[in-house]
Amino acid sequence: MGDTRLVLDYLPRVVPEEPGRPDLEGDDHPIRKVTRQVAFEPSAWTPERAAKVADLFDSLAPTWAERDGGGREGALRTVLGDALDRGGPFPRGWCLEVGCGTGSATPLLAERFSSVLALDLSYEMLCRAPNDLGGRVLADGYCLPLRSASAAAVALVNALLFPAEVERVLEPGGVVIWVSTLGDRTPIYLPAEDVAAALPGNWDVVASEAGWGSWAVLRRAPRVM
Ligand SMILES: C[S@@+](CC[C@H](N)C(=O)[O-])C[C@H]1O[C@@H](n2cnc3c(N)ncnc32)[C@H](O)[C@@H]1O
Repeated sequence: MGDTRLVLDYLPRVVPEEPGRPDLEGDDHPIRKVTRQVAFEPSAWTPERAAKVADLFDSLAPTWAERDGGGREGALRTVLGDALDRGGPFPRGWCLEVGCGTGSATPLLAERFSSVLALDLSYEMLCRAPNDLGGRVLADGYCLPLRSASAAAVALVNALLFPAEVERVLEPGGVVIWVSTLGDRTPIYLPAEDVAAALPGNWDVVASEAGWGSWAVLRRAPRVM
């Protein structure tokens, strides 16, 4: 993090926070620790950990839509919608959605990009995602089966950040879209400045909050001569 530079433009909130935001196990949620570890220590993601996480989400998949009392889908649409409305401009091209789960975010992303490649580690989550908005890929975000510099956007909605792979597959003018449905109470959560710090290189960031959630859109910063 030594000589990196960060420009963070924090936009004022437009969509108010409704009462009743769930607080999932406060600061001690185990997945929150894993999120930080894998973002900053690539060796923390092992085949054993990948298998455990895949098993966990396979088991959650059948009831995923009812999580958080069913308020989750609406909250996700609110915060992602705000990111897509105010985080642009967005490049043309296709969007890779890492950790798409059952595809709650995929239709909104498909409205903004030419198509969405929805990718997940869990077969049971992925097979519930829509199959008519691009493609679906069963793969690990730690090692993406994709060409370098090919995606116009990489979207991570409540998803683990594997910084080296995100940076590798993103085209030069591409954007990273980072969304946390419950803001800092999201189990898989990092603040915008930590997402920028974890990604290789320098990034300009625009970020805000909407409803229960928070978002950040990151672009590679122009080189300083
Ligand atoms: C908290 S869920 C979010 C799902 C969806 N984006 C949403 O907000 O409803 C995290 C998702 O990331 C997936 N996931 C976990 N580790 C992954 C990895 N290494 N590569 C790809 N997907 C992963 C899980 O299987 C799960 O579907």
